[in-house]
Amino acid sequence: MKKYKTLLLENNETGIKKAAALLRAGEIVGIPTETVYGLAANALNASAIRRIFKAKGRPQDNPLIVHIAELNSLYELVMDVSDTALQLAMRFWPGPLTMVFAKKPVIPDILSAGLATVAIRMPSHPTALSLIKAANVPLAAPSANRSGSPSPTTASHVIRDMDGRIPAVLDGGACSVGVESTILDLTGEVPCLLRPGGITPEMIRSVTGKLKIHRAVTAELSRSSMAISPGMKYKHYSPKAHVVLVKGSPQAFTRFVNSRSGEGVVAMCFDKEQYGLEVPYVTYGARGDAAGQARQLFSVLRRLDDIGAKTVYCACPNEREMGLAVYNRLLRAAGFEVIELD
Ligand code: TXA
Ligand code: MG
Repeated sequence: MKKYKTLLLENNETGIKKAAALLRAGEIVGIPTETVYGLAANALNASAIRRIFKAKGRPQDNPLIVHIAELNSLYELVMDVSDTALQLAMRFWPGPLTMVFAKKPVIPDILSAGLATVAIRMPSHPTALSLIKAANVPLAAPSANRSGSPSPTTASHVIRDMDGRIPAVLDGGACSVGVESTILDLTGEVPCLLRPGGITPEMIRSVTGKLKIHRAVTAELSRSSMAISPGMKYKHYSPKAHVVLVKGSPQAFTRFVNSRSGEGVVAMCFDKEQYGLEVPYVTYGARGDAAGQARQLFSVLRRLDDIGAKTVYCACPNEREMGLAVYNRLLRAAGFEVIELD
């Protein structure tokens, strides 16, 4: 792979222009969005997209999301925009909602991993929107982490994973949502939630009425079963430590973790629930504040590596609405290992 001296571009007109020029020249650039940082390339350039897969070490059967800045661009990329899709777009774009459509032939097969569909979103981060407009092409962008590790929510996370592998990262500050976008499949009769995120099931139902939640959101798919969203079958978001999700009251959690104390054992708990713990801990937001948990989740998972955690017992979040997005990521970080107390 080509070795780069990775530039950190500032969030101003010069930085955006430089990033846009790199993208137009077929290069890949780390970019901020409101969810997580993405690794962007011109979505209509197959060889640029190939570079994304290489830099990430991403399996070729996992398709990418396309980012647009104007609703008109959608019609150039997909076969049919249903009334439901249009209503959702009017309500939630720009924002953390990705919708899956039947693709037009302009979408390279490598982007869609050979599927007949393509996932599209309009991010709300102002820098992302300015950059897409300046590049004047739709941008394919997966999360900018090395495959398997937690998604980056700051430019320095991107540098840590991608230094030398990409020419530049555009710094847009810390991501305000903190977990990846909600993915909604609109190709069937009833909209189907493939990945929970900042646009919650209740928000979607307020527009569509009906909504199916794909089994893979909270359950492990067997290796052999063909996932609709191929990304769902890979282990994700994992720090190096072995993570176990623990369901139960704060008291039961504290008793349980203390009974397991030992070298490298770390508790990951809610704010103000650390009292009584006899092992090192990290907190990831207040129990009742799922949006706050989402914002911190991936940087806390990265911090666990920094402090040399070997086994992490993580207090389980609530599984409703925004909590579902946090729960979904933690389940994957834990490889679906859950202990129920009480
Ligand atoms: O918030 C986000 O969505 C971030 C930022 C950068 O926009 N991007 C992101 O991309 O999370 P990535 O590649 O890490 O996750 C994309 C997910 C994968 O699980 C992939 O399988 C799924 O989207 N996906 C992509 N195209 C699809 C399609 N046509 N049908 C179903 N799932 C699709
Ligand atoms: Mg990802």
